[in-house]
Amino acid sequence: MRVLVTGAGGRLGRAVLARLHSAGVGVRATSRRPHARSEAEWVVADLATGRGLPEALSGMDAVLHLASAPKGGQTYQVDVLGTRRLVVAAGAAGVGHLVYVSIVGVDRVPIPYYRHKLAAEEVVAAGPVPWSVLRATQFPQFLDDLLASSARLGPVIGDRAVLAQPVDPGEVAARLAARLVAGPLGAVEEYGGPQVLRFDEAARAWREARGSRRPLLPVRIPGRLGRELRAGGLVTEALPRGARTWADHLADTYGGTGRK
Ligand SMILES: NC(=O)c1ccc[n+]([C@@H]2O[C@H](COP(=O)([O-])OP(=O)(O)OC[C@H]3O[C@@H](n4cnc5c(N)ncnc54)[C@H](OP(=O)(O)O)[C@@H]3O)[C@@H](O)[C@H]2O)c1
Repeated sequence: MRVLVTGAGGRLGRAVLARLHSAGVGVRATSRRPHARSEAEWVVADLATGRGLPEALSGMDAVLHLASAPKGGQTYQVDVLGTRRLVVAAGAAGVGHLVYVSIVGVDRVPIPYYRHKLAAEEVVAAGPVPWSVLRATQFPQFLDDLLASSARLGPVIGDRAVLAQPVDPGEVAARLAARLVAGPLGAVEEYGGPQVLRFDEAARAWREARGSRRPLLPVRIPGRLGRELRAGGLVTEALPRGARTWADHLADTYGGTGRK
């Protein structure tokens, strides 16, 4: 099987390349910049313009579509219109399976980025290529970065009761590799980490791992956004789940044994 991976240089992309490389799958990888690393054949393609897409898709059996632009005002152009460009070009190239990576909660939590991800899911489902959508929960590094930026002013600021379910990107990569083998699902599936954590629990473990004495300054996220986040809009009961915990991430990142 020959697989095109979009957004291959990103956080999930790097884990996917490692996984497919070790499984002996032939991979072509896209980036907007040239790369020379050996785990894949790198090609330059830009979803915002469509440049390079027909060449990238030529001869591919399947596509793992990971590329996304959550910041910088390009989300609609890249995630929605870019996904449409990719789907149309994949149809023309005779690709047999397109897997789109989305996020648990895009259909519930009112975040503008999520609205675009949901629209991109719909583009994939309406397109000519047999498809699968895998919605993953947040990667632990995302929560880590969020905590770091919320602690910029001193205390860790956050809504104590927001629920999160961090999942290791390496385990998401393994799930995506299994989906390629199983073939098109024609439906959305969800995949989350092993534990549902409240923000205050996650923040406490993070502070301990970093040896920080910063207090938690609780705020209450208002409106529907806050209600959805506290009600578990970002978590899933879907099985199977990943095995690597938040404590595992903290131990890997900050040393020590971590806490289960
Ligand atoms: N982060 C999370 O917690 C999380 C959780 C669940 C699902 N997801 C989803 O998983 C996917 C990967 O997330 P990630 O965190 O690995 O993202 P990331 O590190 O930000 O990587 C995204 C990639 O998208 C590519 N990209 C951006 N604009 C592009 C454009 N105009 N044309 C082509 N490629 C473009 C970039 O590649 P170049 O710069 O090399 O061009 C970048 O490497 C995304 O779809 C995201 O929504 C993320």
